[in-house]
Parts: sequence; structure tokens; C-alpha cells
Amino acid sequence: MNVCVIGAGYVGLTTAAVLSSLGHRVSCIDQDKKKVAMLQGGRIPIYEPGLQELIEENKNRLRFSDDLAAGINQAEVIVVAVGTPSLPDGSSNLSFLSKALADAAANIAAYKLILIKSTVPPGTNRAVLNSLREKGYGPDLLDIVSNPEFLREGSALKDMLLPDRMVYGLFEENEGVLQLLKQLYAGIDAPEVITNYEGAELIKYASNAFLAAKISFINEISRVCEKYGADITHVARGIGLDNRIGPAFLQAGIGYGGSCFPKDLQSLSYTAKSSGIEALILDAVQSVNASQLAVYIEKLKSLVPAFPAVKTAVLGIAFKPETDDIRESPAAALIHALNEAGCEVSAFDPKASLPEHLSGVKQMSDPYDAVTGADVVILATDWQQIKNLDWQRVKQLMKGKTLLDARNCLVPEVIRTAGLIYEGVGRL
Ligand code: UDX
Repeated sequence: MNVCVIGAGYVGLTTAAVLSSLGHRVSCIDQDKKKVAMLQGGRIPIYEPGLQELIEENKNRLRFSDDLAAGINQAEVIVVAVGTPSLPDGSSNLSFLSKALADAAANIAAYKLILIKSTVPPGTNRAVLNSLREKGYGPDLLDIVSNPEFLREGSALKDMLLPDRMVYGLFEENEGVLQLLKQLYAGIDAPEVITNYEGAELIKYASNAFLAAKISFINEISRVCEKYGADITHVARGIGLDNRIGPAFLQAGIGYGGSCFPKDLQSLSYTAKSSGIEALILDAVQSVNASQLAVYIEKLKSLVPAFPAVKTAVLGIAFKPETDDIRESPAAALIHALNEAGCEVSAFDPKASLPEHLSGVKQMSDPYDAVTGADVVILATDWQQIKNLDWQRVKQLMKGKTLLDARNCLVPEVIRTAGLIYEGVGRL
């Protein structure tokens, strides 16, 4: 099929690369000329494992451009993957989506199936379709499917090629649309959930909110563990072995971050409240997350009496491993808090860079340089490279010997054997 993907961000690029690998001819359109020039030159603006290689392998079928009209003209399917960032009141900014759809519609001369991958509040797809129908775009010219994605940064390609489920939100039962979806996703085998627009929109939000709730839940329990002398990793394993609970997303730490969970929780809470529903759980999930860092800093103060007159090395800047993304990163927030408190901070990350407002913090390209002379080392993002450090060498290079594992990702015995004092989150 000929496919036009609008938006060359995380979701758009991954979708374009995967669809081209399935054999489709894909144009990925972005209005950012600089980004397009970079992509045309074979450089990828984000770090995502395997993405560069997949784009390279499929370059005969995948092109990047800022020419929306040409992209739309040739396409049978249009995939909209533009951002829907939060506005200050927590609602979603839908202006990029509206613009992309208006621009796309203006170029439609023959039937197109439009898939909306952008995360949008319930009611958005219906409003968009109604407005296009009112402007004369009948079912002969377009149909819209709400087709949320569930990909995680760091494992985006695998998540898209081997998803747990495919979700299709339709305006009404439509065999023709389902056939086109089957053709588009031939090669991807997953259970399908077919529902209406609002169902699909809410599946996306509810999935992210539920996962974030698991994280805030385990973080809150880790605070209880800390007070009562239990080990949260034992508790998480013990509850996670119950099939009804499951082991995923029960790793206590310094909270969730990234481009999705914080924004989607805010947006879903806003949606609930704007129709008179108290968002009790959604708000609790967010407030536990927002306070997790402060609780952690308190712990740091109690462990290190000289605080803030200490040299700290923070290992990890990205919001999670295998990405250079620092949006809402708890690691970056930790560095900011330490810097504000007056600590001397050096940082290391395999891929991510410090945000501009932290220009006072030294970022080292070698983790061993970052820990040299440090009183305290804090592991803030659980990169494999960081987990695999030679801890005896770290101990030798440090001035002090306290290692805080803010992601509970190390084996305490290994760290203690290296002569360091190990402190996890709610861990013995
Ligand atoms: C998330 C969803 O997982 C994905 O399905 C959706 O499409 C987009 O949002 P992503 O933001 O890429 O994906 O990262 P994810 O792996 O979910 O991690 C989110 C945050 O939670 C990270 O900061 C991570 O460190 C943290 N986390 C995750 C924990 O603190 N503990 C856990 O047990 C799991």
C-alpha cells in the first residue's frame, strides 16, 4: 500500500519504519525542514535501538519530506502521529492535530483511510470526523479510525511489530475499513479490540494510567517497607507472582517520567473532572509520583549528614534506559534538585544530555570520570552500561563510599562486596 505518515516524532518515525519493513511504500512528512533534511541525509533525530538500521534497510520504500500535498496525493492510508502535549490546565493541546488534519483534508481528492495514532481525549476523533463530514468530506473521500499505539521508548520497534493487542476505534461497523486495516498490518499478529472511537481513546489513556498506578503503588509501599524493615523487591516479587497482579511495572524507584505517563495522567484526570467525575485514583497516582523525589532527597539527607556540602555523581539523565529522551525525567529532576540545594554535581548518561538550565552541572562522557572524587554516587537511570560498571573501580575512584541505587536495579551483595555502602529504595 502507499502510506503517508504525518509527523516524524517518536511514534511517526517508528510507524513509518515498521510499515515500510512490512512492504508498504511510505512517505513520512514533517513540517520541520531541518528534521526532514537530517532524515533525508540518513541521520535520525532520536536514539531508538534498531531504528536507524531499519530505516536504512528500507530506504527504497521510505522517504522523508515536508511536502504534505505530494504525500497525501499518493497515499491510500494516512497515519496521523503528531504530538498532543499538555496545556497548563492539564488538558491536551490539539492544535497540531487540527492543523495536520486540515492540511491533509485540503489535499484529498480520492478516498483515504485516516488512522489517528496521536493520543487524544475521548470525543476527539468523533469531533474531527463530524467537522470533516460537515465540510463535505463524505465516506466516499475518507474514513477515520482511532488506532492508538502502545510503544515504549527503548523497545519501540519490538512493541510495534509484536504488540500485545491492536486497537481499532471505528465510527460504525465497516467491513471495508477492517479489510484495509488487515492489509496494512498484514504480518503483525495480535488480538484485535474493535470498539467505538471513545473506547479506543480511553483504552490508551486507561492503559497508561493503570501502569503509572502500579508504579505509584509500589513506590508508596516502598515507603512503608522502609519504615518497617521489609524489602520492596521481595514484596514486589511476592505480589507479582499472583497472576491477577503480574510482575511488570512493580519496580520501585524515583518515579515515572517520560513523554506519556505524566501528560496522559493529567489529561485523563482533566477529562474526568470536566464532566463532574472525581479523579481520586488518577490524582493520587500523580501526587505519589510528584512527592517521590522529595521523599528520596530526605532519605539522602538522612544518610549523608554533610548534605548539601557534598560532591554527588548522578549516573543517568534519561527518563529510562535505551533512550536519549529527558522529558519529565526523574533523573534530570534529581540533578536539578541537588544542584539547587547547593551540592556539587557531576552527571553521566550513555546517550542523553543535560537540559540547558543545568549548564552548571558537569556532564562527563565517562562514568568513571563522573564518580571520581564523589562523596555519594546515585544511580538514577537503569542503563545496562551503568548496571555493569566495575564497582570496585568505582569505590577506588570515589572519596566517600555511599552508593544510592534509586532504581533498585543492582544486586546489593555485589555492591557491598566492592566495599561500598548500598542503599536502595525500600530495600534491605
Ligand atoms: C509508556 C507506555 O509503557 C507505552 O505503552 C506508551 O505507549 C507510552 O508510555 P514509555 O514512556 O516509553 O512508555 O516508558 P515506560 O517503559 O512505560 O516507562 C515509563 C516510566 O516509568 C519510566 O520513567 C520508567 O523508569 C518508570 N518505571 C517503569 C518505573 O519507575 N518502574 C517500573 O516498574 C516501570
